[in-house]
Amino acid sequence: MSLLITGGTGYIGSHAVVELLNAGDDVVIVDNLSNSSTKSLDRVEHITGKRPIFIKADICDKAAMESVFREHDISAVIHFAGLKAVGESTQIPLSYYHNNVTGTIVLLEVMKQFSVKNLVFSSSATVYGENNLSPLIETMPTSATNPYGQTKLMIEHILFDLAKSDPQWSIISLRYFNPIGAHHSGLIGENPNGIPNNLLPFVSQVAVGRLQQLSVFGDDYDTIDGTGVRDYIHVVDLALAHLKAVTALSKVDGCIAINVGTGNGTSVLQIVNKFKEISGVDVPYQISPRRPGDIATVFAKADLANEFLGWQAERNLDDMIRDTWRWQSQNPNGFE
Ligand code: NAD
Ligand code: UFG
Repeated sequence: MSLLITGGTGYIGSHAVVELLNAGDDVVIVDNLSNSSTKSLDRVEHITGKRPIFIKADICDKAAMESVFREHDISAVIHFAGLKAVGESTQIPLSYYHNNVTGTIVLLEVMKQFSVKNLVFSSSATVYGENNLSPLIETMPTSATNPYGQTKLMIEHILFDLAKSDPQWSIISLRYFNPIGAHHSGLIGENPNGIPNNLLPFVSQVAVGRLQQLSVFGDDYDTIDGTGVRDYIHVVDLALAHLKAVTALSKVDGCIAINVGTGNGTSVLQIVNKFKEISGVDVPYQISPRRPGDIATVFAKADLANEFLGWQAERNLDDMIRDTWRWQSQNPNGFE
């Protein structure tokens, strides 16, 4: 039996694949390479000594997905594939709704057709919207403020409805907070196309000399130093949460949403200072206006993951920054 990993050549997916292969699981990856390259597979093989089966296909392509399930004995799916840039989603919303929502519906239809009803889904803390106060708890009301967030919320609704309609489904929706860091080998890591939107890739590209300076989006929030506070989580800890979730599927009747965060908040300037301390490199920055749509503080209540999955984050901020820097300094141009 194999696990199907959609989006398995991407940032989080490739780290999950490493941990799954190390744990002895058989893995089949489906990815259309829209935001990744097969070079990550070479690196995964270098780290684990094993090469996962890779199929280049789009999850929206029903015939291709059917042949994946026909040719491989799939026991469960971890579904990472999706478009994820908030800003871009406001410019090309139809692409986001089609890729993320239609793609997930096609995947679910094919899973149902082949009686594979075990799923772990990549959701996001973005489903808490802007009206809840941190720490964010799974029972809080959800909402979305942009098309990307809407796709995650819609998919969660679809998963809850599907699980209600047929008790054979076991689904865990993992709500990730802010994944950063890289595998400690420095061989795989985050490799964004173009100018990064997220804080850590931006900071590390400034540190490595690819970008000139960081814009800190606002220093007048009601936080420890006025800059935005987020719950950063090491990507390897996040990957390990997926292994625990796959195991926990056997005790899920229906669909359950679980936060994956550390429960700690860190400000933008705390990140910048920690990055300077660990890398020994300066990170020039300027204070800029707030970024539209940002909120002051986002961090998780992470108790359910501990209670239900037996998981908690083990890597601290120093580990996250050290591993980010190792990846970026060893691979200044990503996988190129
Ligand atoms: P990523 O872009 O590195 O990985 C996503 C992968 O999915 C890519 O390899 C891409 O080529 C592939 N893909 C996209 N659309 C596809 C399709 N239609 N068919 C087949 N493959 C497709 O992103 P990531 O950071 O690894 O994120 C993985 C998942 O986690 C995404 O669903 C994302 O929305 C979610 N998530 C990410 C973050 C974050 O900050 N990175 C936070 C919360 C949730
Ligand atoms: N920031 C800067 N400068 C930058 C980039 C970010 O100051 O160049 C600040 C932001 O204002 C924010 C913090 O750094 O205060 C983190 O910003 P990110 O863009 O790295 O992360 P977000 O929390 O805004 O968004 C992330 C994911 C989204 C997801 C959201 C909620 O990118 O996909 O978390 O989980 F929806």
